[in-house]
Amino acid sequence: MSAANERDSRTIDPSAVPRRRLYTGATMPAVGLGTFGSDQVTGAQIAEAVRGAAAVGYRHFDCASVYGNEAEIGASFEEILRGGIRREDLWITSKVWNDKHGEDDVMASCRQSLADLRLDYLDLYLVHWPFPNFHPPGCDVSSRSADAKPYIHENYMKTWRAMERLVDKGLVRHIGTSNMTIPKLKLLLRDARIKPAVNEMELHPHFQQPELFRFVLANGIQPVGYCPVGSPGRPERDRTPEDTTPTEDPVIVEIAARHGVHPAVVCIQWAVQRGQTPIPFSIHHYRANLEGVVSDALTADEMRAIAGIDRNCRLIKGQVFLWKDGQSWEALWDLDGEITPP
Ligand SMILES: NC(=O)c1ccc[n+]([C@@H]2O[C@H](COP(=O)([O-])OP(=O)(O)OC[C@H]3O[C@@H](n4cnc5c(N)ncnc54)[C@H](OP(=O)(O)O)[C@@H]3O)[C@@H](O)[C@H]2O)c1
Repeated sequence: MSAANERDSRTIDPSAVPRRRLYTGATMPAVGLGTFGSDQVTGAQIAEAVRGAAAVGYRHFDCASVYGNEAEIGASFEEILRGGIRREDLWITSKVWNDKHGEDDVMASCRQSLADLRLDYLDLYLVHWPFPNFHPPGCDVSSRSADAKPYIHENYMKTWRAMERLVDKGLVRHIGTSNMTIPKLKLLLRDARIKPAVNEMELHPHFQQPELFRFVLANGIQPVGYCPVGSPGRPERDRTPEDTTPTEDPVIVEIAARHGVHPAVVCIQWAVQRGQTPIPFSIHHYRANLEGVVSDALTADEMRAIAGIDRNCRLIKGQVFLWKDGQSWEALWDLDGEITPP
């Protein structure tokens, strides 16, 4: 456990952490630990953070095959379970990467994640991106895959059918989406046999996505929020000059000073109180983040003030998924309310 997390050896009672009810009736802790090391934090460091976070009281972990660290994290899960925490008290998510959208590939990829994570089922399995494009890890945002494809609903449904079979086989308890838009979700909701339980999406005070947020909740889908503190450690390739930093926003800074916490903690408290499930990554501050969730609620005035600082500033733009020359990243996000045509 790192120094910042070590100072206090008390466990935060996991039953004090709010939970989200999914349409199946299952419940999921309303905050989880992110595990993407942004090319800077090693798998070993993250595996240690997972062990430390479980000791502190975390029960929800957001993993993905593309993060390249599931085998290391799996060793931590084994240790956590051996230490007496029951499997049914953990909520573990993984995701199928874009180059594994093929019908057989989804099953193989899920089995690989299960083997790496040393589990016999996942609580949640997500389609990481709706685009089936391979690009090498760490590649530049200007790089394009020669066989990059637009969103083709028929193809997405083939992937989704394979996801549904994972539920049928008991390998995963829930399936969900990530990086989706309203028009894409409408088609999926129309055609799915097993509805998505969760949509994982970028959510922080400078990118509140009110329309999509309301849409998913209205359709019985829980919003899970990534980059909840504005991803200060994200790779250079994911930065543009227009990006803003929610933890530097004067409204957040002022509320944080009033409560005596770091601005990141305010972002996480806001997320939980608003009704999404943030999954902050942290190797140094995970204790403070969980403490924030179980203590000192933000006032209605503070919640209103934060609602007022949305800047519609998307940080993870997804440029590598573009399929045509000359396109800008907005094409990936169906801003006109229609799926961008091929
Ligand atoms: N579905 C998707 O496509 C997708 C995309 C992006 C991310 N994700 C998931 O979402 C997770 C979170 O996103 P993210 O990692 O990009 O960004 P994030 O959680 O917004 O930011 C993580 C950074 O914030 C720092 N931090 C966290 N709490 C802090 C605190 N209390 N005080 C000071 N600094 C603090 C961490 O530093 P320390 O480590 O030093 O504590 C780390 O550098 C990922 O790890 C991943 O699991 C999913």
